[in-house]
Amino acid sequence: MAEKVLDIPKNINANHAETAPAYFSVWDLHAYYGESYIVQGISFNIHEGEILALLGRNGAGKTSTLRAIARLDDPMVTRGEIWLDHQHLHTMKSHEAAIAGLGLVPEDRRIIPGLTVEENLQLAQIVEPVGWSLDRIYELFPRLKERRKQEGVTLSGGEQQMLSIARALARDIKVLLLDEPYEGLAPVIVDEIEKTLRIIKAQGITTILVEQNAVRALNLADRAVILDTGTVVYDGSAKEVLENETLRAEYLAI
Ligand SMILES: Nc1ncnc2c1ncn2[C@@H]1O[C@H](COP(=O)(O)OP(=O)(O)O)[C@@H](O)[C@H]1O
Ligand SMILES: [Mg+2]
Repeated sequence: MAEKVLDIPKNINANHAETAPAYFSVWDLHAYYGESYIVQGISFNIHEGEILALLGRNGAGKTSTLRAIARLDDPMVTRGEIWLDHQHLHTMKSHEAAIAGLGLVPEDRRIIPGLTVEENLQLAQIVEPVGWSLDRIYELFPRLKERRKQEGVTLSGGEQQMLSIARALARDIKVLLLDEPYEGLAPVIVDEIEKTLRIIKAQGITTILVEQNAVRALNLADRAVILDTGTVVYDGSAKEVLENETLRAEYLAI
């Protein structure tokens, strides 16, 4: 195991702010679950409004990277910087990062039991009332409008995924972090979610898409970052990955 780096002080490397080239930037990020060193120095940049596919085999560190970016307690970030539109997220708590504009849609979707679809959305708006209106959300997700009085946890898998994305949009997010949104869904539902992600992109929102269905993700994304054992092994155009058999076979098993 590599040597553990001590907790980062506030204002670490303030110079990076002046040189940060991108809208969203992760710089030399390191994170641990207890003693397990998982995120091992990850860096990448995203331009505003881009979709970045974050790929890699099972266990490569994709979920851990999203969690570290969203400033959740686990894994614990010991070093690195995360910048969103000149705000340094790496010194923030998760709720502060959320207010700064991050929206994490976790793999398990986290629909709140006992609340209707609409109440799930309204709850997000109580926390942060400046996001999308219900009308705007329902325009994007007509299925949610039809089911707005239904309890959220009784929706189908695809509808729950839509609700989870809609709930992020109900706040005023700038960057959407999606962890395997297509998992367990029929291709026709994936088509629907993909269409929605294109509209979200057209609204100027920046997306990091973690997906096992790499071909789908690469066809949607502008750029791709491939992880292997917690480090970046590829950073470039999504199209290039689709065309590069060696890369696909070695890191994506497709
Ligand atoms: N809560 C945890 N505690 C300890 N190790 C974990 C935990 N979650 C994930 N890991 C380990 O971290 C590594 C990366 O996992 P993860 O980020 O979930 O990968 P991916 O999302 O790419 O499949 C794996 O080796 C996994 O076993
Ligand atoms: Mg994962």
